[in-house]
Amino acid sequence: MGAEELFFSTTDRRGVIRQGNSVFVRISGYPLEELVGAPHNTVRHPDMPGGVFRLIWDRLTAGRSVGAYMKNRTRDGGSYWVFAAISPLHDGYVSVRMAPCGPRFELVKRVYAQASRVEREAVLRDGMNRHDAALLGMAEIEASLWKRGYASYEEFMLQALPEEISARSQRTSTAYARPDARGSIAEVLSGTGALDEVLDELVGRLAAYQKVGNELASTSAKVLDIAHRLNTSVAAAQRASELVADSAPVLVNVARVMAKPMDRSVASLERLQAECGRLRDDVAHLRFQISLASLYNDMAAAFAAEVFDRAAPPESLTAVPLLCDAAGSCIEEMSEQVQRVNTSLHDVANLVAETGTLLEEFRRFIGQWRNLVLRHNAGPALGDAVRPIDEEISVSWEWMELLRHLGGQYESAIVPFDPAFLQTHLDKIRTAPAAL
Ligand SMILES: Cc1cc2nc3c(=O)[nH]c(=O)nc-3n(C[C@H](O)[C@H](O)[C@H](O)COP(=O)(O)O)c2cc1C
Repeated sequence: MGAEELFFSTTDRRGVIRQGNSVFVRISGYPLEELVGAPHNTVRHPDMPGGVFRLIWDRLTAGRSVGAYMKNRTRDGGSYWVFAAISPLHDGYVSVRMAPCGPRFELVKRVYAQASRVEREAVLRDGMNRHDAALLGMAEIEASLWKRGYASYEEFMLQALPEEISARSQRTSTAYARPDARGSIAEVLSGTGALDEVLDELVGRLAAYQKVGNELASTSAKVLDIAHRLNTSVAAAQRASELVADSAPVLVNVARVMAKPMDRSVASLERLQAECGRLRDDVAHLRFQISLASLYNDMAAAFAAEVFDRAAPPESLTAVPLLCDAAGSCIEEMSEQVQRVNTSLHDVANLVAETGTLLEEFRRFIGQWRNLVLRHNAGPALGDAVRPIDEEISVSWEWMELLRHLGGQYESAIVPFDPAFLQTHLDKIRTAPAAL
């Protein structure tokens, strides 16, 4: 299977195949007439754990796209691996599959082998039915991924699909260029080429964005850690001040007042942490949808190139509008996600600014308090209370500077996104085959 090759199939709601392309026919070894009308499990390999298909169908029936590694069986008993993207479309599903080459492929083989073992044992040893064994396999897959640091299958999939697609596009960047093409084929190819560029640029922006997002999350975690320690020190300073309340009541008052901005900055840092987590999830979803749209767009280009090369009949261009619809749904979802991401960017920037102001306020109070301790000659207990606060403050200051810097970078990384512009491109591609 060539790096640039893509399998294509569509099914009805139950997974009965309606359409397939020449790559599917060639690699699977089934003639198209045998595939069309057959359930998709015709190509299922016995090594595949049923749990994978439970994960897939759970998402599909909830109306969401899914990505998964799959080992399939050829007609003559051989096998081939694919990375499949599947999306709900109209009254069925569309799937585009490619040769896997991303960094998570090896891990997946081990995870699937373990889940298959668990399922087989449950059926053979405990007499469990296939449906329950698949549920067990699904739990096993999620547990294995969790042990390797993924919160869920979804988290794994959101990373695996964009990686597979970008690894593939690096190997096939000009695979569909046909400079001699004319008419509808040329239109499909120029439209898909233009869309590809826009989507590529978006993916590049998101990668930079994810990097700053991760740094922001870890820096705010550090500042929060320091803030927690400062809070403890301030509580100690308050207690120490109370010991000298008779001789220097003003110390108690200032200690009480300075605890307030500290409490509030802990609260705003906690909000910042939560917001960074949400942003990270949103960006991962966005990257997934962009990659998916670019895959469906590539599939449309592949059909046009195949027709031009006379490797497929002109009728195969009827799949192009369908793929445009699939890419169009991704763009609709992207549009909502971009809005959410851009809104929370402002929230993050505001929270960083708020935390900075609160910490500054705290620093002013601690300065006053320290002067009062000296003036009242309040004794060694208070001196001991001040020292850790001083140390923490100077460290917090450096981290806060970094946080401010990252917050600024993050805010300026706003993703410019014009869904109407992308849909116009899609409309052009969609209508081109009609002229054939
Ligand atoms: C669009 C689409 C594409 C699919 N592609 C494959 C595939 O390539 N290989 C496969 O084993 N199952 C595929 N499936 C899942 C099958 O429908 C089926 O659930 C799976 O083979 C497990 O078979 P079972 O449900 O009989 O256990 C696909 C489903 C859909 C909706």
